[in-house]
Amino acid sequence: MKLSSRVGLIKPSATMAVAERASALRAQGADLIDFGAGEPDFDTPEPIKDAAVEAMRRGATKYTAVGGTDALKGAIVTKLQRDNGLAYEKREVMASCGGKHSLFVAFHVLFGPGDEVIVPAPYWVSYPDILLLAGAEARLVRTTAESGFKLSPEALEAAITDRTRAVIINSPSNPTGAAYAAEELRPLLDVIARHNLIVISDDVYEMMVYGNFQRTHVLQLRPDLRERTLVVNSVSKTYAMTGWRIGYTAAPAHVIKAMATLQGQMTSNPSSVAQAAAVQALSGPQDAVTHMVREFGRRAEFVVDRLRAIPNVVCPKPEGAFYVFPNIAAYLNRTAGGVVLKSGDDLAAYLIDSAHVAVVGGTDFGYPDHIRISYANSMENLERGLDRIDAALRKLA
Ligand SMILES: Cc1ncc(COP(=O)(O)O)c(C=O)c1O
Repeated sequence: MKLSSRVGLIKPSATMAVAERASALRAQGADLIDFGAGEPDFDTPEPIKDAAVEAMRRGATKYTAVGGTDALKGAIVTKLQRDNGLAYEKREVMASCGGKHSLFVAFHVLFGPGDEVIVPAPYWVSYPDILLLAGAEARLVRTTAESGFKLSPEALEAAITDRTRAVIINSPSNPTGAAYAAEELRPLLDVIARHNLIVISDDVYEMMVYGNFQRTHVLQLRPDLRERTLVVNSVSKTYAMTGWRIGYTAAPAHVIKAMATLQGQMTSNPSSVAQAAAVQALSGPQDAVTHMVREFGRRAEFVVDRLRAIPNVVCPKPEGAFYVFPNIAAYLNRTAGGVVLKSGDDLAAYLIDSAHVAVVGGTDFGYPDHIRISYANSMENLERGLDRIDAALRKLA
């Protein structure tokens, strides 16, 4: 059967490919250590699960309004005020089936053929593909490890053309963990404001920042950009709820209205039961988040120290998220089992096959000579897995 030209534009996500290889090895009984996952290793907190059970019992099992229940919209509005100091009304927010779906719907109502969106690289694998599906294009702007993988105002300015419509700010970032401090963000927002661009603020890792890092929201620094900003967030990472599929967007009312129209012809509402769970997550006690973030911070220190102790692995210290993105170029063009390792993806295949450690190659994040390591795993597994990576890399030396 002939497939549409649209689907030919995109590729399966690299992170999913690693997950599949990892589960195949696990099914064969291998003692696999998984640093590929893009989700917290913690369980969804009990009160959130209880809220879902209670919702089912009370019969909240039917369609809801497309953009979410009134209770969920209220919880999103309260969260934005509490955590970000941002004032939104219910008609300016909506829920979707995960942050990825929020971005999908947003990109499709905002962008089309001829439009370019600036995506700082390394980037989350899905941005360019979702933009392609919308008929638009990602304009990738490379950053360097020396600058902590952060976009400079000069590089941003140089990438803007008369087709540029928007800039994606993902802080902290997947895959690098880099997060912008206020003084780094402000000059970028000055450029964005001067060129009348839209800001897509992808905040899904906002709570995961470590040490003394102070997070600042785009709209706290530049409230005047509110009419041109979309705030996208999700309960997935913050509350260990990746499987529940609830994301949300805050934006000017006319954008939310268009997004709800599109979503209404696409998925209708996100799961009613998951919405009830998300209300509890956003409005209930936040101590489980504090605990999880403290633990991730401890692991980040450990992982960076261990990687830096491996000769010629270059690993900037992340400010947040739960990933590190080391440069492993020194280990490329070596031979393992008769195969020349040409990229981080080849190195990832070598690590999973010879050391039973799953990591993701950097190609789909725009940096083929890097790998992404997720430290959403127990300290014990981090210790064992890094021992294995260390030994496997030294074997190549
Ligand atoms: C940067 C970034 N944005 C958005 C998402 C979407 O997450 P979800 O659809 O689970 O809310 C992810 C998930 O990996 C991500 O890494």
